[in-house]
Amino acid sequence: MAIVNRIAEFHADMTAWRHEIHAHPETAFEEFRTADFVAKRLGDFGIEVHRGLAGTGVVGTLKGGNGSQRSIALRADMDALHIHEKNGFEHVSQNPGKMHACGHDGHTTMLLGAARYLAETRNFDGTVHFIFQPAEENEGGARVMVEQGLFDQFPVEAVYGMHNMPGYPVGSMCVRNGPLMAAYDVFEIVVRGRGSHGAMPHQGIDPVVTAAQIITSLQTISSRNTNPLDSVVVSVTQVHGGDTWNVIPDEIALRGTTRSFRPEVQKTIEPSIRRIAEGIAQAHGATIAGFRYEMRYPPTVNTAAETEIAAKAAGTVIGEANVVRDPVPSMGAEDFAFMLQARPGSYVWIGNGPTEGGCLLHNPHYDFSDEILPIGASYWATLVEQTLPRRA
Ligand code: NI
Repeated sequence: MAIVNRIAEFHADMTAWRHEIHAHPETAFEEFRTADFVAKRLGDFGIEVHRGLAGTGVVGTLKGGNGSQRSIALRADMDALHIHEKNGFEHVSQNPGKMHACGHDGHTTMLLGAARYLAETRNFDGTVHFIFQPAEENEGGARVMVEQGLFDQFPVEAVYGMHNMPGYPVGSMCVRNGPLMAAYDVFEIVVRGRGSHGAMPHQGIDPVVTAAQIITSLQTISSRNTNPLDSVVVSVTQVHGGDTWNVIPDEIALRGTTRSFRPEVQKTIEPSIRRIAEGIAQAHGATIAGFRYEMRYPPTVNTAAETEIAAKAAGTVIGEANVVRDPVPSMGAEDFAFMLQARPGSYVWIGNGPTEGGCLLHNPHYDFSDEILPIGASYWATLVEQTLPRRA
């Protein structure tokens, strides 16, 4: 492994930063302490700091070399999740109900490590923007930053992202051209019948039985309406309705999420859900009293040239044999997708090691692996030095 020596030297500092951030998790658009922490470190490294995009967003700008106009961006996410941490170690969350269960503490730290090294050495020619974004989980902080002019204020030829992935060994990275993460939408269906005594269902219209058939039939969207070579997930994740044992309620509300990879496929899901819900409701004499479908995140689609750049940097740091090319994409979603809609770029996974003991993303027993901090920071640093080479 070719970890950058200087980065290995401050592994202990990075570990301390990571634990500090982990112990003080903050959720969407409330990353005040974390943003202060990031801005303070960047300032100490001698990097120009810009704050305020999407509220708590921080961008550090560093120039190196002899005047190249070229410029790239590296992005980390800072937000935590609404999960109550069940770990027992010293850096456990001090904010009850909030937890860095997706490793964004590690992502922030790896980018800070790279920023420190690059500010010290400036062995590149051009400009690097270090983007620390809020609200990756659910709320699309990346979209807000882009809408508020991220790439107008900080023009770049490409943008790069990285996420840890439990289950891939420490010292491995995954790189893929094309889609790596899915599109993420949500939906709500309100089925209205007519309530009645639970013993006399014939006196009403049962929205529970109707909703049950809707839930089952929604599975035909992926199995019968979608080309088998495309991927769609439709998951009903909430069923709300009824108050007691012997009363059939008036209404049942269903909520859920859908996932897909291609925009052409994503567009077909909403009309399919609506058709099935309305058709089944009508068959039972019920109605659809409410219907909502929101497109949240587009798919995360890497561009070819930038993916080769990412693969080369990863191979330099961890050895080509440890770069997993074309991993199976994830049905998880990622708001880095919005940055990739605005600029070419590539998003990679860095192996976080074994999943034993619940070390899985969004799990109350998860923790980011401190072992990989210098690997990720070296990847970022190498990517910059290879992409913006200093002229002799
Ligand atoms: Ni995440």
